[in-house]
Amino acid sequence: MKISVIGSGYVGLVTGACLSEFGYKVVCIDKNKKKIELLKKNIIPIYEPGLSDLVKKNTKAKYLSFSDNLKHIKGSKIIFIAVGTPSARRGDGEADLKYVFEVCKELAKVLNKKDKPIIVTKSTVPIGTGKKIINLFKKFCPSLQYEIDYNVASNPEFLREGSAIEDFLRPDRVICGVNNQVSLSCLKELYRPLNLREAPVLFTDIESAELIKYASNAFLALKISFINEMADLCEKVGGNVQMVAKGMGLDNRIGSKFLHPGPGFGGSCFPKDTRALYASFKKNNVESTLIKSVIEFNERRKLNMVKKIINILGKPYKNKKITILGVTFKPNTDDLRESPSLVIIPKLKKLGIKIYAHDPSYNTTFSSIKEFKGVMWKKNTFDAVKGSDMIVIHTEWNEYRGMDLSKIKKLLKSPVILDLRNIFNKNELNEMGYLYYNIGSKK
Ligand code: UDX
Repeated sequence: MKISVIGSGYVGLVTGACLSEFGYKVVCIDKNKKKIELLKKNIIPIYEPGLSDLVKKNTKAKYLSFSDNLKHIKGSKIIFIAVGTPSARRGDGEADLKYVFEVCKELAKVLNKKDKPIIVTKSTVPIGTGKKIINLFKKFCPSLQYEIDYNVASNPEFLREGSAIEDFLRPDRVICGVNNQVSLSCLKELYRPLNLREAPVLFTDIESAELIKYASNAFLALKISFINEMADLCEKVGGNVQMVAKGMGLDNRIGSKFLHPGPGFGGSCFPKDTRALYASFKKNNVESTLIKSVIEFNERRKLNMVKKIINILGKPYKNKKITILGVTFKPNTDDLRESPSLVIIPKLKKLGIKIYAHDPSYNTTFSSIKEFKGVMWKKNTFDAVKGSDMIVIHTEWNEYRGMDLSKIKKLLKSPVILDLRNIFNKNELNEMGYLYYNIGSKK
């Protein structure tokens, strides 16, 4: 079976590479010629563990290829649309579907009767988009008949950055929104290789599939915010939020995942998707208080982290030095999108505090980000902490979990750690002579 994936960003590349791993002939298409040239040389523009090896292996075996020409969809049984759906510039959080619709219009020019492809959205799109896509095709390729010459379906992705390959090859579930038996059979065949792993493939109508994606992300964002709120209470009245999370998580109905408190959720999905979901409620005049408060709580959370930091640092702030360990929104990625650090660091700088930072995924683009202007980037943790008044653990990279805390204590000006990810044991750090603060327990 030949498959085309349009859009060679994060989702498109991972989807293309993983499907080629199943033995399908996959062509990844992107209009960005430069990106395609790099991909043809097996240079991967994103940081994702395992992706580079998968691309190398499958291009060599000729299962995977790259093209900047949409004509190369010819002969495809399935055409995935995996282009971005960023927040619209209007500022209301609504997803901007212009790239999706542009692809549909271009596709309409090259579709033909013979292939009878299924056009499947992988991009995260608001409920009702599938219907709009069907209407676009009806308008732009009137010579072809919907459900006879082509089909439209929805197959949202649930890939976490840093473990996207694993998530694709061993998913908790696969969601397929289809309108008819033809699409159902074709997508069933596509995901047959997952049968051995007993991954459930759930078939729904297109609208439900579209909403499952948003509802899942919003629910996880809610779960994170919920435990963050419990952490605030523990810090005031006692108790340990980690034990609270453990106790809650042992109830199978709740589950233990996504109950780790922190500086607030970030990344390319949760903030954007919660805003887009809220925009769908508003647009359709349906009341939503829950999603709205999750969005607002998370914004406030980042500012509250600044308050927490400066309370510990103490006045006068000017010229004090803070070391931030990890700036990405989570470990195993170089992605800074909506990372709490982008809010926290500028606020600290404004108070005259000097920021030294380290991140295992640091690359020169970090230095050109306006929020990080003036930050002193260091190649290793020892250099980063030298003479510092305080360490703030912002991202839970494994590298920090095992760092030599005795040596670090000697390098610091004051042995103060604020651990926003709870990676250390409070008693151990206190015994070592640190003034140790974490999230969700009273000092
Ligand atoms: C997410 C979803 O998990 C994935 O299914 C979706 O399709 C894309 O968005 P991703 O953004 O890569 O994936 O990261 P994820 O691991 O979900 O974490 C998102 C944010 O929540 C991070 O900032 C992380 O630090 C934070 N988080 C996560 C917590 O603060 N606590 C938790 O318990 C879990």
